[in-house]
Amino acid sequence: MALKNVLHMNAGAGDSSYAKNSSFQKASLLRSSKVLENSVNDFAINGFPQCFALADLGCSSGPNCLLAVTTIVDNVRAVCQQKGLSIPEFQVFLNDLPDNDFNTIFKIVNQSSSSLANGKEHALGGNCFISGVPGSFYSRLFPSRSLHFVHSSNSVHWLSQVPEKLEKNGGNVYMAKASPRGICEAYFDQYTRDFSTFLRIRSLEIAPKGCMVLTFQGRSSADPSNSGCCILYEILAKSLQSMSTEGLIREADIDSFNVPFYNPTTDEVKAIIDTEGSFEIQELQTSRNDIEVQFTRNENFCRIVAKQIRVINEPMLAAHFGDMFMDKLFDKYAEKLAEHLSEDKIENFDIMISLTKKSD
Ligand SMILES: C[S@@+](CC[C@H](N)C(=O)[O-])C[C@H]1O[C@@H](n2cnc3c(N)ncnc32)[C@H](O)[C@@H]1O
Repeated sequence: MALKNVLHMNAGAGDSSYAKNSSFQKASLLRSSKVLENSVNDFAINGFPQCFALADLGCSSGPNCLLAVTTIVDNVRAVCQQKGLSIPEFQVFLNDLPDNDFNTIFKIVNQSSSSLANGKEHALGGNCFISGVPGSFYSRLFPSRSLHFVHSSNSVHWLSQVPEKLEKNGGNVYMAKASPRGICEAYFDQYTRDFSTFLRIRSLEIAPKGCMVLTFQGRSSADPSNSGCCILYEILAKSLQSMSTEGLIREADIDSFNVPFYNPTTDEVKAIIDTEGSFEIQELQTSRNDIEVQFTRNENFCRIVAKQIRVINEPMLAAHFGDMFMDKLFDKYAEKLAEHLSEDKIENFDIMISLTKKSD
């Protein structure tokens, strides 16, 4: 099945949904608020258009996407008030892959507007016009030079596809310490191609002097197999292997499963932006918030982390292995995570980057 049909977060607003299990992503979004504010201030130097067009790419289906959009809209309104400028209208595009649960977002948007109708001010009421744009951000989504501001959080670390012709990965599902060198090289090549494409396409869609703020998972070590993300996926691989030992899934299915994800270093990101050439880096910040050992005393904590990993990966895993063993798989995941955290912490490293489009 094509990746675009299985790469989406768990739908709905229930107990096992992304909407209810995305507090890590919310925290990283909040950490990027200063970069967002600075970027809006940079844009304001040239004044605002009558209609400010902004897009959130990889918005998913929870409240986080509205949090990002609200933060940008609030910042624009605040700058306009400070500078005595008239507040623009906002055209807001929420993008994700076609199988994303757009219905849940639009229910939340509707609730937001009705809170305005009840007399409670809400940032997305009034002069904000919100629509959904299904499609891959590795392809054209918007007309030429039509966007003033692009935002994306926790999304551009997803690749357009699993790197092609990966050699056998020794039972792993992502780059791991035991992976052959060629695996890490193939992941890096795919990321370089994808991120360059992303930049090139956005440069066509963003108006001159437009801004883009991206927040995504990175890593602090030059060694691609040495990062928190790799450990989290090694724990997933061990959980799958344990299911295979119990005869619940086939080993061959583990061998043919790899995750379409890459967490780069800041040097890798800067080099790709430099080589692609369409954008200038205004600000690059990193933030390290490790998953720490003290939390393991709370057994519930590992279940919460396992659930957050589940809501992100379950549609892909269920499409590949079948959906009947997912509860068991993530019970194992929580156990193995607790074992790991009793010995070592897990790096959680965000990269936040603000870019402006160079003149054509
Ligand atoms: C972890 S969620 C992030 C959601 C939200 N931005 C946040 O910060 O909580 C990642 C989202 O990126 C989307 N995504 C991944 N690859 C994509 C692509 N090529 N085009 C559009 N969306 C994509 C996924 O479907 C998913 O909804």
